Amino acid sequence: MMNRWPVVKRLLPLLAGMALLLSACGREDLSALNPQGPVAQEQLGIMKLSITIMVLVVVVVFAIAIYVLFRFRRKPGDQTIPKQVEGNHKLEIIWTVIPLILLVILGVPTIQSVFGLAQDYSKDENAIQIKVTAHQYWWEFEYPDHGITTAQEMIIPTNAVISIEAQSADVIHSFWIPSLAGKIDTNPGGNVNNMYFEATKPGVYLGKCAELCGPSHAYMDFKVKAVDDASFERWVTAMKEPATLPEDAAIAETFTSQCLTCHAIGDKGLQGLYPNLTGMGSREAVAGFLLNTDDPKYKNEGSVYDNLVRWIKDPEAVKPGNQMPKVDLSDEEIEAIAKYLSEQKLDY
Ligand code: CUA
Repeated sequence: MMNRWPVVKRLLPLLAGMALLLSACGREDLSALNPQGPVAQEQLGIMKLSITIMVLVVVVVFAIAIYVLFRFRRKPGDQTIPKQVEGNHKLEIIWTVIPLILLVILGVPTIQSVFGLAQDYSKDENAIQIKVTAHQYWWEFEYPDHGITTAQEMIIPTNAVISIEAQSADVIHSFWIPSLAGKIDTNPGGNVNNMYFEATKPGVYLGKCAELCGPSHAYMDFKVKAVDDASFERWVTAMKEPATLPEDAAIAETFTSQCLTCHAIGDKGLQGLYPNLTGMGSREAVAGFLLNTDDPKYKNEGSVYDNLVRWIKDPEAVKPGNQMPKVDLSDEEIEAIAKYLSEQKLDY
């Protein structure tokens, strides 16, 4: 027989490397394997339970199969036909009952969690109500109890139940914040889906669209920013403050006629149809995914100003298939508008 040890020996470093690589998975801001709130924690618990049961079954079945292969193989010189056994009641009962027990162990907590996590907080006065509307390719977040609508960045208080009513303005998308909760489809036609989640500590958690929805599906990111209660209240107040237009009268006029016919900023512009621009300067990203950072570990890095210029100059090149038109403005005008927007910071 061929000696397989050298092959195994060569694979060992690879396996060890993979184990190391996988153990580094689980980014705090983006991984279901590194939960940051009770909902994600419970979902990870179910994953661990089911994987443990599966691994147990695989190990036991393989161990028995390998044992039988070696123990009962035909030996050299042995010509006798072994005793032919057809059926064994005791064994059959054992291998029927064991899977039944395993299914009960898996089923009871799974069903408990499924119904527990489906709890509806939409009438709960202590929960923060947020209406999520997905659009090709951006996210609208409306806080009906606070009279606020924003885009791309959901600000939430920590340790509060966030009750989500999710739907879509066009095609089916899926709302997913891996480190906070499992995903939920957003459907068109007034078909609303509910979910809830909670973040236990302040931080920025990345959200994704998890349903193929068109050419820019992969860029349909959003952020959930969890802050303490006082910051959340300050944010709510700051969002409601009246907007100041650019100081330069000509730029103010251009901004009003070119941008505010679709967008809103503070109390000005067209409300509720396209992404709200209030507090653009304090956002984590432009267009949902051009990160406002100088950290070279992220591609697309740049300041909020750089990203705004890039985005306004050619939206189609940045995010194919989106509805933002290329505006007929000079570079100077675009830069002035980007500068103004990048200075619109919310103090919270
Ligand atoms: Cu929206 Cu994918």
